[in-house]
Amino acid sequence: MFKVLFLLSAIVVSGSVAIPAAVPASSFVLIGDSTTANGTTENSGGWGNGFCGSNAVSPAVPSALEPNTPCINTAKNGATTGTFVANGYFDISIKAIKAEVAKGRKTYATIQFGHNDQKVATPESMGANLTAMVKQVRSAGGEPILVTPLTRRTFNSANQISDSLGPWADQTKLIAQQQNTHVLDLNAASIKYCNAIGPDACHRLNRSPTDNTHLNQGGTIVFGRMVADLMTASFPNQLPIIANPDLTRNISLGIPSF
Ligand SMILES: *[C@@H]1O[C@H](CO)[C@@H](O)[C@H](O)[C@H]1NC(C)=O
Ligand SMILES: *[C@@H]1O[C@H](CO)[C@@H](O)[C@H](O)[C@H]1NC(C)=O
Ligand SMILES: *[C@@H]1O[C@H](CO)[C@@H](O)[C@H](O)[C@H]1NC(C)=O
Repeated sequence: MFKVLFLLSAIVVSGSVAIPAAVPASSFVLIGDSTTANGTTENSGGWGNGFCGSNAVSPAVPSALEPNTPCINTAKNGATTGTFVANGYFDISIKAIKAEVAKGRKTYATIQFGHNDQKVATPESMGANLTAMVKQVRSAGGEPILVTPLTRRTFNSANQISDSLGPWADQTKLIAQQQNTHVLDLNAASIKYCNAIGPDACHRLNRSPTDNTHLNQGGTIVFGRMVADLMTASFPNQLPIIANPDLTRNISLGIPSF
């Protein structure tokens, strides 16, 4: 009995020593297209709701962030890096970043494009636009995080993902290297996971059975967590992210959650 108590108190003491210092007050602003956006209509719905959480959808989606962490999803359905700026959405993102920075909060801005850029111009054109965005996020006081595009859930006859976004992911990584930003390789991680769980389980994350681009509730939870885990790996012990060991384990072992 004494021995057990002694061991327990030893654990408590070493546990208290191991508690990491509190992370700084932080905010998140999401920038991108429909594969990030929190839309509830057809042809929309990305990982943003699963990352930020939302009570506006039913059933409500829990946040991957600690309570009272602002998470402002400014992503827009159909946007390219060109139209996002031209139609004024990027101004909204920059205003949101400045407002959070003004409150003394460390403000992270994720930037993910490719799905629509791919329809209008070259990867290099997107790259130039991403570079401009990174610079503007920095001058607004934010910390840019480039994100490679979430895969489309289209499979070939060998039941492997056949994704056309590789050059867009590569371009995003190139800009991250050139501009010295963090980058989350969501494209590679989402391809790896869908290849592991196979077409049926991967398509259960679709917004509608034939929509291989947008996400339902399960999809936003899974890919929101995938982004949270990539961020944790990129900024260890610096972010107010709530762990979800069960879901993280499913993702890393390639087990379907839904
Ligand atoms: C989507 O995000 C916007 C901006 O943060 C917010 O005003 C809106 O309530 C969100 N909608 C849903 C369904 O979560
Ligand atoms: C980049 O932005 C320009 C406008 O500045 C636009 O013409 C071009 O289509 C954009 N490129 C992509 C890939 O969206
Ligand atoms: C993990 O996967 C198992 C098996 O599919 C499932 O029962 C469980 O709900 C999943 N956990 C989470 C948190 O999604």
